[in-house]
Amino acid sequence: AQYQIAVVVGSLRKDSFNRQLAHALIKLAPSEFTFKFLDIGALPLYNQDDDDHQAEAVQNMKAEITASQGLLFVTPEYNRSMPGVLKNALDHASRPYGKNAWSGKPAGVIGASIGGIGTALAQQHLRNVLAYLDAPTLGQPEAFIHAKEGLFNDDGSIGAGSKDFLQGWMNSYAAWVKKHA
Ligand code: FNR
Repeated sequence: AQYQIAVVVGSLRKDSFNRQLAHALIKLAPSEFTFKFLDIGALPLYNQDDDDHQAEAVQNMKAEITASQGLLFVTPEYNRSMPGVLKNALDHASRPYGKNAWSGKPAGVIGASIGGIGTALAQQHLRNVLAYLDAPTLGQPEAFIHAKEGLFNDDGSIGAGSKDFLQGWMNSYAAWVKKHA
């Protein structure tokens, strides 16, 4: 079987560590997995008035989520929570009422931060929302990644210090997706 994963990066920054982490993780995935990055930067600000005529960017994103067999969230922590752009995307695809695109999609949550707690609080807030949205989320292993020198090799792959840990994380994530797909 083939598994298509919708990747959601919680940072719009060009040189985002989390975007780099997402690309590096993808290199560790099994060959039957393909990944598609959702363009959450193209979404308007969520407004409930638009629920019965969602913008094209919203419809496109929802279609990509619906077509996927799993979700991969790679997010920074902003002010001890998830970035607003990520919450905006979660809200958009959860609506209109009864048409929640996230529902039932197995999810993985991971993130990198220059701060010591490695996005732990952002991830915890995100898990809370995903629980409500009915997306079964991998519980273990947790991965709070400290963005420091050597995290990535020059070619964008994971550096030696974190390679085994993140390979283990990816193996658990892939098994989680297969179990729920
Ligand atoms: C941050 N940063 C941050 N780091 C952290 O560990 N905990 C936090 O609460 C915050 N808060 C925060 C708020 C805002 C508005 C910004 C812009 C930044 C620092 C953050 O980890 C750092 O900017 C990362 O580089 C962001 O991830 P990307 O964009 O590199 O993926």
